[in-house]
Amino acid sequence: MVKNSKTEKEFFSDIRERLGIVNDYLSPEETFQLCVDNKLTMHKKYLDFIEQNNIKSRTQPWFVVNKTQAEYFTDVRNEVKDFYLSSEETIELCIKERLTSLDIYLKYRNKNDSIKIKSAPWKELDKTQSEYFTDIRSKIESLYLNGDETLNLCVKNNLISEKKYRDYKKKTILKLSSQPWSLLNLSYVDFFSLVKETIESKLNKDREYRPAFLGEFSEMNKKWNTSNSKTDHKRLNADPTEWKKYHNLYTKLREAWGSDIPYKVIANELNKRPDWVVGDFGCGENLLSKEITNKVHAFDHIAIDKNVTSCDITHVPLEDNTLDVVVFSLSLMGTNYSEYFKEAHRVLKPMGVLMIAEPSTKWQDKEEDLKTKLTEAGFKLIGEIKYSERFVYIDAIKY
Ligand SMILES: C[S@@+](CC[C@H](N)C(=O)[O-])C[C@H]1O[C@@H](n2cnc3c(N)ncnc32)[C@H](O)[C@@H]1O
Repeated sequence: MVKNSKTEKEFFSDIRERLGIVNDYLSPEETFQLCVDNKLTMHKKYLDFIEQNNIKSRTQPWFVVNKTQAEYFTDVRNEVKDFYLSSEETIELCIKERLTSLDIYLKYRNKNDSIKIKSAPWKELDKTQSEYFTDIRSKIESLYLNGDETLNLCVKNNLISEKKYRDYKKKTILKLSSQPWSLLNLSYVDFFSLVKETIESKLNKDREYRPAFLGEFSEMNKKWNTSNSKTDHKRLNADPTEWKKYHNLYTKLREAWGSDIPYKVIANELNKRPDWVVGDFGCGENLLSKEITNKVHAFDHIAIDKNVTSCDITHVPLEDNTLDVVVFSLSLMGTNYSEYFKEAHRVLKPMGVLMIAEPSTKWQDKEEDLKTKLTEAGFKLIGEIKYSERFVYIDAIKY
């Protein structure tokens, strides 16, 4: 644009006209949404952006997918989880990297402010706060994108619109050499052709993709998690289509979980005790049984095959004191989940083991309720509650 002695405005409208992308223009919020969907920016940044730009409700993304703002962001949060760290997750990462102690983390989790300040992790390590965070920053660099990095990534992934670039430039004086087309060794005409093509295909893909993941799956989860299991059991058995759809989406979602797949993690433990008789409560597609050699009694609302018994897990067709271990892998879904625990207690042998895996976000403010319900049902927690990136793993014993 400097070479052509044009104003920035003239430059961009020329390109737009030349490429005929007037109708394919992405609004700032669409651009941001694309970035979020493509894991190119953080949820927090997106929120800031919405706030700063005072975006009206009609254009807000949750409106488009027919959701409340809270539901939408829960979904987005799940999508970009790997790329955004809450302060709690940062501390967790610090533990993994041996930058702080578990003790400090637990105190932090208890949200005790005075302890938090006293035990600031940088003091323990004899560092200034700024040195400490520079260290962390370098560890999580790949997970956090600043404005410049985001822009570059967007450019490399051909996700950026000229408007976004222009807005960005208004705030930051970029050198000529850092213009995206120079960085990619492209002429600006080629650059914008690429942008146009990619945006078109991304938009088309997103339109198909978003309702499936961000819409239906969370809608179903919400429905199942906020109703009594008797209601779910009746409805799902009257028409199992909903159950099948849920499992199709759940299978797709698992692809993003890497090795942190709860039924596999639990199977690793059970493989140490092949002699134990297992009850898989809410077994879904009965995948746990395929990872272990134990005898398994598998139960779910819908029986996927003849090895599964269809029932509400508040009442399983087993005698008292028959199982060595009961597994709840992501299956504490009904509002009456305490009845699941009571039923597990009935069918477990004395000192039998309960293994639970649940999404950590679901219980982060309700962990105490969960523990109370376990105690009330006659269980005692064993060992530490374990947290992975996405899940919480709890073991308890019948006593
Ligand atoms: C997210 S899936 C998990 C499936 C499997 N445990 C796994 O880890 O892949 C949750 C399953 O629990 C089942 N479920 C939840 N509450 C139930 C209940 N009260 N009775 C029977 N099945 C239940 C659902 O039908 C669903 O198949």
